Amino acid sequence: MMNYRILVSLGLISLAVASSAFAADSGAKLESQLCSVCHGRGGTTSSELFPQLAGQPAPYFIAQMKAFRDKSRSEENAQRFMWGISSRLSDQDIEQLAAFYETKTPAYLGKISDQVKYDLGKDIFTNGHLDKGVPPCMACHGEKGEGKESTPRLGGQHEVYLKRQLKVFYGNERPAAVAMHEVVKGLSETDIDAIAQYLQAQ
Ligand code: HEC
Ligand code: HEC
Repeated sequence: MMNYRILVSLGLISLAVASSAFAADSGAKLESQLCSVCHGRGGTTSSELFPQLAGQPAPYFIAQMKAFRDKSRSEENAQRFMWGISSRLSDQDIEQLAAFYETKTPAYLGKISDQVKYDLGKDIFTNGHLDKGVPPCMACHGEKGEGKESTPRLGGQHEVYLKRQLKVFYGNERPAAVAMHEVVKGLSETDIDAIAQYLQAQ
């Protein structure tokens, strides 16, 4: 009886592993046909125009794709680049793409061009700016900006993309980002530059 139960539960586990591997395989096909031309093979690219997707947690990825598709994420580049393509994807396509990208090795740019900015960025990321009401970014985004569930990975992301998104949060073109609308209120332009410099080097 005991052995039977163990076998059954092992069977269920391998079934679950097999089905997420299947989702990632189907995601790989979609990725090479529809996404890699901009985001790079496997979701890493040296082009600063396109955000890195490798290692992005699936729940965050899925939420963003649906927000492009229903046009609730509406900053200029979202409209230009992501509204059209997302309208062609089913929920299942989006889930398969999310499973694919989540398992890819994230980019590591490691490039520190300004040590003073880097140190300031690290300080804000780790400790916040408590006198200005800015909480430590690390508390939600993880120690190295690795992200978790519906909170995005920031480590290894392009500096240009990070800066642009932090400025988007001053407005209301990403209405789902409730926490970020509060967070950016206490950040100056210098702080944003510094944080982006720190994060892209993780
Ligand atoms: C023509 C180029 C192009 C193609 C093709 C494209 N993207 Fe994008 N994608 C972009 C750009 C540019 C952005 C950044 C938008 C912004 O800055 O607001 C983006 C943003 C994203 C984001 C948000 C990233 C984040 O960190 O919030 C996701 C997720 C995404 N794309 C997934 C995909 C997937 C999946 C495909 C294929 C089905 C795809 N993209 C195809 C250009 C493209
Ligand atoms: C209370 C939790 C929390 C804190 C603290 C926080 N964030 Fe976020 N952040 C989020 C969530 C959740 C999102 C995803 C928003 C969405 O769904 O659109 C996000 C999104 C972002 C994005 C957009 C990433 C992308 O791929 O488009 C950036 C950049 C960012 N945060 C930077 C920061 C920085 C820098 C700090 C510290 C100054 C910080 N965050 C503090 C929760 C937090």
